[in-house]
Amino acid sequence: MGSDFIDKYGRKVKSLRISLTNRCNLNCIYCHGEGDTNHTNTNIKDEITPETIRVLTDVAVKHGVDKVKFSGGEPLLRRDLPEILTELPPLKDVSLTTNGTLLATLADNLADSGLDRVNISLDTLHPLIYDQITQTTGYHNKVLNGIHAAVCAGLTPIKINMVLLSGINDNEIAEMIAFVKCYSGCVILQLIELMDFQNTSSYKVNIDRIQRELERQASHTKVRIMHRRKKYYINGAEVELVRPVDNTEFCQNCNRLRVTPESKLKTCLLRDDDLVDITNKTPLEVEQLMIQTIQKREPYCKRSC
Ligand code: 5AD
Repeated sequence: MGSDFIDKYGRKVKSLRISLTNRCNLNCIYCHGEGDTNHTNTNIKDEITPETIRVLTDVAVKHGVDKVKFSGGEPLLRRDLPEILTELPPLKDVSLTTNGTLLATLADNLADSGLDRVNISLDTLHPLIYDQITQTTGYHNKVLNGIHAAVCAGLTPIKINMVLLSGINDNEIAEMIAFVKCYSGCVILQLIELMDFQNTSSYKVNIDRIQRELERQASHTKVRIMHRRKKYYINGAEVELVRPVDNTEFCQNCNRLRVTPESKLKTCLLRDDDLVDITNKTPLEVEQLMIQTIQKREPYCKRSC
């Protein structure tokens, strides 16, 4: 039983990443849509139900999964999010990744429903650059209010996801470090290497250069188990660097199983040829499908990368 969630590469699945919807109120120029490269919009009535999530998470917990992350699209567009959270089995860590635009009014309710913490996407502190990246207008201030509300609701530590885009926000790292520092340890900055899903290669930054600069500035560093992500402590702020591109260590240390908004198990962000449907299945069937799917997991980037 204990080894059922270990794949052929010795990687134990410890966390689920469940995409609740692919609807979003923003339209970021680089968005990978959680690996749904066609960005097809699932009909609301076909989105994964609280019942399917309950069955899935019950099975997962039985096999040693202790973390669940919800993502989107924008997960706060799901009206039944409090119900989904309330029905989860006991877990060590329940989090969600949000663009933060709707967080100001929802943070308290989500915390009361059992959400532990949030990751908030904020690529820039400048409203006009934000509009350019998200291809919308007027949302920047709502995100800042959302961060504030999440801190007050205790959805901490909050991670600010900043995707690095050359010529757009790569000159803002110091400013962003100063911004998170104001929250005295409640907010962590997560710098993310751009994955080229949307013909965005011209925005790619030299991530080695960024890493060297963080190493130079850091008073000390740590390495997380998950994806072997590096953490830097700079002037009292915590900064994490996420390097998913062509990174064998990242893939070798991936412990996630993904779930799409259409209730399909997905082994890797970068693969969609192996989706397994779990709609209207019994708990026993879901358990068998999860075990079979985990046996099909492969590091996207192997030694040859
Ligand atoms: N490259 C890297 N990170 C991305 N995200 C979305 N698209 C990309 C991409 N192309 C990340 C953002 C967002 C989270 C949901 O996914 O950090 O916060």
